[in-house]
Amino acid sequence: MHSNTKESLIDFDRPVPRYTSYPTAPHFKPDVEGSHYKSWLKDLPDGSHLSLYFHIPFCPQLCWFCGCHTKITKRYSSVEDYLSLLIREIEMTADLSAHSGNVTHMHFGGGSPTILKASDFSRLMGSIRNAFSISDGAEIAIEIDPRQINEAKVAAYAKAGVTRASLGVQDFDQRVLESVHREQPFYASYESMKLLRDYGIRNINFDLMYGLPHQTTETMKQTAEYTLLLNPDRIAIFGYAHVPWMKKHMRLLPEKALPDAMERLRLFEVASKIFCDAGYIPVGIDHFAKPGDALAQAKEQGRLYRNFQGYTDDKADALIGMGVSAISRLPAGFTQNSQMLAYRDSILKGRLPKEKFFTLSREDRLRDDIIQSFMCKLSADVGHICQSHGYDPRYFSKEIDTLKPLRNARLIEFEDNGVINIVVPQAARLTCAAFDAYLQPSETSRHVTAT
Ligand SMILES: C[S@@+](CC[C@H](N)C(=O)[O-])C[C@H]1O[C@@H](n2cnc3c(N)ncnc32)[C@H](O)[C@@H]1O
Ligand code: SF4
Repeated sequence: MHSNTKESLIDFDRPVPRYTSYPTAPHFKPDVEGSHYKSWLKDLPDGSHLSLYFHIPFCPQLCWFCGCHTKITKRYSSVEDYLSLLIREIEMTADLSAHSGNVTHMHFGGGSPTILKASDFSRLMGSIRNAFSISDGAEIAIEIDPRQINEAKVAAYAKAGVTRASLGVQDFDQRVLESVHREQPFYASYESMKLLRDYGIRNINFDLMYGLPHQTTETMKQTAEYTLLLNPDRIAIFGYAHVPWMKKHMRLLPEKALPDAMERLRLFEVASKIFCDAGYIPVGIDHFAKPGDALAQAKEQGRLYRNFQGYTDDKADALIGMGVSAISRLPAGFTQNSQMLAYRDSILKGRLPKEKFFTLSREDRLRDDIIQSFMCKLSADVGHICQSHGYDPRYFSKEIDTLKPLRNARLIEFEDNGVINIVVPQAARLTCAAFDAYLQPSETSRHVTAT
């Protein structure tokens, strides 16, 4: 990226959502006992493809950069208690579905699903298989903290049918890792990769981060090169979202050692160039995938989507989230589960642990399609998308006018046929924000800047 372009990006930069959904979760409304969810589940047509998400909100130790929904626990009994509640929710949800579906995708996220003992993971998977019907060839993915992996756990994942693993690597530089309270030697990632591959789990993603304290272009280069040595199929490089006003533990980070906006762009560029030179295909705003990987193929074939876990080729009819704070997306709209105390209370009383919902309007769906197109294809034919939803192709002319400064700074471009292309990936979220009817100036403290 030219240095003038970088400067313009920094000038325009402001806090905007990550757009893993539209509308974003802060706009969901209070729900009572999941009344919307129950009818939405019942209305799902027979044979619908389902995607299931399970949230495990525990970690043994806190990474000071962590923005995830998790709780530190030293007592495994809390994890066991939670597992019983989660299994109860799985049974209640399956009972409510008119049919137990045709599950094509499953994702175990957190927190750290790897905190579960091998026997408990097997128990969880057993209860899911009892409750839902899982398609042959379903993708079953799990987020892995390499520090918690042992052979018994990997054997349990393989036996349960796990097909994809996402390793939280973050960085390989020991100074960076120490400064974020995450001591993780190279061999933890190496051993995890080896075990996963030995047990036949060959689709592997690495999560890396840029914008952490003490990262320099040199440390980033080293991390990218070590990553290539381990040869994952996919790599995500997330920009560190620093929100100490929301996540107080982030104040423990050495703030003075955080790279500034210009340095963050350089860090991303260094890693991105190394991955692209090594043959990875850039996917969306922050992912890279080998040409044969399902995500790279989905990009090529225009089948790339964005959901709460990030980029995916999963276009199931419904995403059903289970566990504390998990979000579901059904054809009619979204629902979100409650936080731990209310979650526990609801399940023990035999009620669905739903706290929020959002019913999608016709215009929400139109705006969602435009935002998805920018986030996934880095391009949108706004007029054409409007027409496909039965709207006038000039419906968003005011929104498009607000994008002219980004175009003049060459962060995005307007084609003669009305297509808008994102030139610099970090401008994607800024562009989407122009089409977000709910984004309020007062809301910006919840979000992080686009760089
Ligand atoms: C639930 S964690 C992954 C699994 C496991 N807990 C671990 O850390 O190894 C999901 C990912 O979110 C990313 N992440 C966490 N906090 C973040 C933040 N504040 N900003 C950007 N990315 C973040 C990290 O790359 C992390 O691997
Ligand atoms: S292990 Fe993952 S979820 Fe847990 S604190 Fe660290 S980044 Fe957050």
